[in-house]
Amino acid sequence: MVVTHQSPSVRISTYETSTKECLKTNKKIIIHSSPQPFSLFILDSFLPSLYSIIRIMSTTSKSSKASPPNTEITILVPDDFHHHFRDGIKTKHVVHHTNQRFKRCIAMPNLSPPVTTAPMATDYRQRILSHLPTQTPDSNSNSNSQWEMEPLMTLYLTDATSPQDIQEASKYDYIKACKLYPANATTNSAHGVTNVKLIYPALREMAKCGLLLLLHSEVTGDDIDIFDREAQFITDIMTPLAVDHPNLKMVMEHISTKQAVEYICHDAPPNVAASITAHHMLYNRNAILVGGIKPHFYCLPILKRETHRRALVTAATSGNPRFFAGTDSAPHTVMMKESVCGCAGVYTAHAAVELYAEVFDTEGALDKLEGFLSHHGADFYGLERNTELLTLTKESWEVPYSYPFGWEGDRDETVKGLRHGEYVHWKIVGI
Ligand code: DOR
Ligand code: ZN
Repeated sequence: MVVTHQSPSVRISTYETSTKECLKTNKKIIIHSSPQPFSLFILDSFLPSLYSIIRIMSTTSKSSKASPPNTEITILVPDDFHHHFRDGIKTKHVVHHTNQRFKRCIAMPNLSPPVTTAPMATDYRQRILSHLPTQTPDSNSNSNSQWEMEPLMTLYLTDATSPQDIQEASKYDYIKACKLYPANATTNSAHGVTNVKLIYPALREMAKCGLLLLLHSEVTGDDIDIFDREAQFITDIMTPLAVDHPNLKMVMEHISTKQAVEYICHDAPPNVAASITAHHMLYNRNAILVGGIKPHFYCLPILKRETHRRALVTAATSGNPRFFAGTDSAPHTVMMKESVCGCAGVYTAHAAVELYAEVFDTEGALDKLEGFLSHHGADFYGLERNTELLTLTKESWEVPYSYPFGWEGDRDETVKGLRHGEYVHWKIVGI
């Protein structure tokens, strides 16, 4: 074993591996990229498999910077600063995946009805907690015994949110932030804010109480192209907002553009940071549109062109502490996604940390992974860093075609996670 990098908590090591080979047989491709080879069967009649194979080949194709198979990395257990737990029985399935990967998760409040008050956040937190393994002793749902995931709560801002609502929320140590959805910008945002000036009194109170402002950073309006909505938000809303509230910590969530990266790096005051999803760093808009419409890649903000994806990867892997992980894992049932009007959202809770590892590995930046996943967000939020450890190994595994996701009436529902039926190339040791 060769230890290639070591810091107090990060340890990256590589093992001698068998020679890589790629054997092509009649109807089968075997890729021996590790001692556990995986096989892919090409069904002539199933064209999408070909796209899968091409994607697997391209994601495993060695960027010269990437680490060898079986590299291991141990980091402080990550936090997710943007997570959709949904509600009811669906939450059980989400919690199962989340608890394996994250210590703390910022829970989004865009339920129906939205979580607008401290008592609603308290009830929602209880409902999330009720699905953790210690609350469900019969469940065999989890294998991590080092930690139990902790949901941190947010309030959904409306035009009517008052300074009193904020004061009340600040009494609960598990309520950390309020979420600004511009009205009608995304899923369940109809009750969102119509004019940010209307909530200035609430924002001033948040700054006083130490609650953060989380922003879905897109303008709305039929006249504004969906690919331009984030950039326009920066000019029209974000820039003046940051100037008007210098003492309010703000997070531009799930940024998707070069303009947002440039804003954070060059123009934003120090009270503004940004979170980045794995899917916005792994895919560009071709994923949605090339070779047929792929609804499971549709999310908001929508995936952008390659130059933007590259800017996000560069920002995340640079080590700049103003960028950190927020998965925006947003599950919808297969029925709601594969529809004439499919919902926005990509489900990544089943593999989020592993997918981030892929991004950093491809860039030769595994030494920056822990900062992005486990330090920067906690530091910006003013939270203690976690102490527990999580080990990842560079080993491919196949994502199930779907996961159970509750039921509607007497029909069982499922959710398709990112890479369903395909491979993720990093694995958490122990699950
Ligand atoms: O793609 C998205 N899905 N973006 C959001 O902002 C909301 C989320 C959801 O709740 O489904
Ligand atoms: Zn979201």
